Amino acid sequence: MARTVIRGGLVVTAAEEVEADVLIEGERVAALALRGTETAQTWARGDAAVIDATGHYVIPGGVDAHTHMEMPFGGTQSADTFETGTRAAAWGGTTTIVDFAIQSPGQSVRSGVDTWMAKADGRCAVDYAFHAILSDVNESSLKEMDVLVDEGVTSFKLFMAYPGVFYSDDGQILRAMQRGAANGALTMMHAENGIAIDVLVEQALAEGRTDPRHHGEVRKALLESEATHRAIQLARVAGAPLYVVHVSAGEAVEELARARDKGLNVFGETCPQYLFLSTDNLAEPGFEGAKYVCSTPLRPKEHQEFLWRALRTNDLSVVSTDHCPFCFTGQKDLGVGDFSKIPNGMPGVENRMDLLHQAVVDGRISRRRWIEIACATPARMFGLHPRKGTLAPGADADVVVYDPNAEQVISAETHHMNVDYSAYEGKRVTGRARTVLSRGRVVVDDGTYLGEAGHGRYVPRSTCQYLV
Ligand code: URP
Ligand code: ZN
Ligand code: ZN
Repeated sequence: MARTVIRGGLVVTAAEEVEADVLIEGERVAALALRGTETAQTWARGDAAVIDATGHYVIPGGVDAHTHMEMPFGGTQSADTFETGTRAAAWGGTTTIVDFAIQSPGQSVRSGVDTWMAKADGRCAVDYAFHAILSDVNESSLKEMDVLVDEGVTSFKLFMAYPGVFYSDDGQILRAMQRGAANGALTMMHAENGIAIDVLVEQALAEGRTDPRHHGEVRKALLESEATHRAIQLARVAGAPLYVVHVSAGEAVEELARARDKGLNVFGETCPQYLFLSTDNLAEPGFEGAKYVCSTPLRPKEHQEFLWRALRTNDLSVVSTDHCPFCFTGQKDLGVGDFSKIPNGMPGVENRMDLLHQAVVDGRISRRRWIEIACATPARMFGLHPRKGTLAPGADADVVVYDPNAEQVISAETHHMNVDYSAYEGKRVTGRARTVLSRGRVVVDDGTYLGEAGHGRYVPRSTCQYLV
């Protein structure tokens, strides 16, 4: 069995920071040994391959629990395939993604899962798992949930937005939550009042307000917080846990905090775009703002402080990307003259670990919190622990040797995502993944990609590990 020692680095997990060497045997972490101990010296004298991590952090590979590769949306589909998107993830130090398999209305949940399995099979650079999107909650899809939970698809996303597409009404949501309460599934919620938003969209367009910035104006923070509140109450009625995705509004964070103060199993996720970008970007001149159209939308800058604070207090506990890239030319421009036709979504799977490390550099979060929100908590939330999200004996050897001093300028010129712009073009960040291992195999090293499509495997998940 191949043996590798990662020597000389500072091992950072959600739990601790320790000067230690890491022994990998085959695809797993075999052991950690404190620097200079007899055990570490024995490894050094042995025949293991050595990766020098002096001056670097040694961290678990990132777990991005919210991506959309090859996702059909608004008459087009997101520009990253499972092959290009997982390769870009690897470049950015993310070694597991959880993508969304979509049930089409009138179809079974199973056929959505099968379709997404087929898209990903044999193409991924890093490991992957699936949530399912329920677009048609009925007796038979509720029954299918039970089987899928047993098979490792243990979380289901519902939409309070997008009437006529993914939308579920409150009755359907309640039924799905009741089922989740019984079978252990975690309900993920896109919390925006889509019925009200559609009225505002219609009014805006009728008044000639067609530019991208109006996307942010009609999708009001109040309609996010109202939906968040409603989702929480429905979850209480059902006795079910709830995970609210892509939270962007300070008012929605307040709803989550209130629920969590009551001791409810309510969890919140935000994304880098809400932490680093704002409505200023949506208002960029010409049609540039279309690059930043996603839902929930970017908010005025003042909201960012609420999000950062909630990340510190754990009222928000995960940062995922909601990676759903559409090219500016040929995709985003479907909405020229009508913001409601701009495909919703932004790229980011490659940037998340670095942007969050920048937050460490800026003093917003600690190093351990960085690993907690980007690796450990998403792994536990979605039943991937102890294989993913940590460095411990028995864990998959998904390891990143991270250079905390590397300087980089984020740009579409240099990124690896299959999209013609970067949402963070020109942003300087300190830190970069130097060497990335996926299950013991080096997939990125010092600016060279060494992975291959098909190395990444499907990972069936257990249920949320924050529930008793
Ligand atoms: O704008 C977004 N977020 N696109 C992806 C679909 C979703 O709602 O997560
Ligand atoms: Zn959503
Ligand atoms: Zn999404």
